[in-house]
Amino acid sequence: MCGIVAYNGQKQAAPILLEGLEKLEYRGYDSAGLAVRDGEGDIEVVRAKGRLKVLAEKTNEGKSLKGDCGIGHTRWATHGEPSENNAHPHESLHAEVVAVHNGIIENYQEIRSKLERHQYTFYSQTDTEIAVNLIEYYRHKYDETPIGALRRAMMRIRGSYALAVLFKDRPGEIYLARKDSPMIIGVTEGESFAASDAPAILKHTRHVYYIDNMELACLSKGGVTFYNIDGEQIEKEITEITWDAEAAEKGGYEHFMMKEIFEQPKAVEDTLHSVCDGQEIDLKDIHLDEEEIRSIAHITIVACGSAYHVGVAAQYVIEDLSRIPVRVELASEFRYRNPILGENELVIVISQSGETADSLAALREAKRQGVKTLGIVNVVGSSIAREADNVFYTLAGPEIAVATTKAYSAQLMAVYCLAVRFAYVRGKINKEEYKKYIDELSALPEKISKSLEDKERLQWFAAKFGNNRDIFYIGRGMDYATCLEGSLKMKEISYLHSEAYAAGELKHGTISLVEKGTLVIGVSTQNELYEKTLSNMIEVKSRGGYLVGITSYGHYSIEDTVDFTIYIPRTDSHFTTLLTVPSLQLLGYYMSVNKGLNPDKPRNLAKSVTVE
Ligand code: AGP
Repeated sequence: MCGIVAYNGQKQAAPILLEGLEKLEYRGYDSAGLAVRDGEGDIEVVRAKGRLKVLAEKTNEGKSLKGDCGIGHTRWATHGEPSENNAHPHESLHAEVVAVHNGIIENYQEIRSKLERHQYTFYSQTDTEIAVNLIEYYRHKYDETPIGALRRAMMRIRGSYALAVLFKDRPGEIYLARKDSPMIIGVTEGESFAASDAPAILKHTRHVYYIDNMELACLSKGGVTFYNIDGEQIEKEITEITWDAEAAEKGGYEHFMMKEIFEQPKAVEDTLHSVCDGQEIDLKDIHLDEEEIRSIAHITIVACGSAYHVGVAAQYVIEDLSRIPVRVELASEFRYRNPILGENELVIVISQSGETADSLAALREAKRQGVKTLGIVNVVGSSIAREADNVFYTLAGPEIAVATTKAYSAQLMAVYCLAVRFAYVRGKINKEEYKKYIDELSALPEKISKSLEDKERLQWFAAKFGNNRDIFYIGRGMDYATCLEGSLKMKEISYLHSEAYAAGELKHGTISLVEKGTLVIGVSTQNELYEKTLSNMIEVKSRGGYLVGITSYGHYSIEDTVDFTIYIPRTDSHFTTLLTVPSLQLLGYYMSVNKGLNPDKPRNLAKSVTVE
């Protein structure tokens, strides 16, 4: 996610802003910038690609920027490559408005077209520049105050934002607006602050206000005035922050992994909204228009680790819905086995980092064979994103923990969108079914939150079974794909050996390993396979296994068979992985923490495997 900071006080703003941005570095970024003004003087803007030290060098540690009022930004790219041009702060066409933004503007294209009709031109690829010009446009069109123009923009924009805005004709004032993205406001004698997160201001004050959704504010020197979306002034309670800076970076969670597990609903929702307005799934931006979709004869998905597990799930969903043949390959194997890629093949490379060496090599092999490639990537401007013919960005934001959670789920949502869109365009589902699937996709973020409500029971269970030598995850069809990811989460952060097995395959050897007390986690969410998986689970139980059953609400008969049940909200059987895996992530997390391990930094593992 991006980081924003704002300062309005008696001291030089730039050094304070830089220091605040350093406290937000954990949020991940690829460029940064400052906008500072000295009294009635012009607003001076400096931006730089890369780490904060580049910006610090460019501004002589902030000393070259004079003024006691300013805003700063670290950018995690969502629209537009990492570059100085795309870095914030962004300025309106007539330089009357300068702003920094954390969030995603979903309808920025339509707003851009509107502004272009009013002779606006743009220098960047960002959604933020659109917002800045919209605010300027409203000030002129309606002769509005800053608050008036901001509230009009808020009612026009669809998406999420934490905005800090300077107006050329309002020296000594900083305006704020918020919807869904985090923002905290601090005050102390003669100074006021705003930031995406508490660590950026804790050094200066612990007395803070929380601005709520669809609210606005104006920072003066030592004070803040709040407004509701109707432009009416409102009162807010001041509170005191009691926790320390490190805890604040993790949003109050003990580990980044837990924070990111609970960021999944938003990561999934933002990814869905990047291609779906609730009525249509539009893939034109990734150059998969209807003709392209109809021309696909075969799909090969290539990835590593958890991204590969997304591919396994994608194979079930895309094949079942669109009837396009799908092959899933481990990138480390694919790149060396002289793969056969046919006419009208689409190769999809899935990668959170976009830098995994094996996946990048697989992409290059596909391109060498002249095959169309699509990247599903979380890091904008990463190697795979740049080299693939087209890229579908997951909007999970930076993922700090080595074990992927929210990026995995955002990738799942991306492949669900592809599967539903492909099925509709190729006439495999009708308009009514298409809308039904879209409605169900739209309901998934809330259902993930519901799944996560089970965390206390999972924490208890993990404490009870933390010393198991072997753990088996079994499932059929889509549930097998789920088991693959659940098992990897357990292995990589708790160091307990586990194995995912197709439930129907157990009797071909592996069941000989099951003995009294062996922990077996049976996943059975596929209605048409429910009975078969249940009988596999009974086979395990009869050999002494301790059986955990995961199924959808309604399949209560499972309790006659298993020792411990985890229920997930009902959803279409194609999408159950997205609701089951969060529970398995929590299980792995608690097993790890119970062993006194740090799930954020598991031994021997790197966040991105950029070597073979
Ligand atoms: C997942 O928890 C692991 N950290 C690992 O398997 C990861 O998914 C794999 O290395 C692929 O990384 P990528 O998505 O960045 O390409």
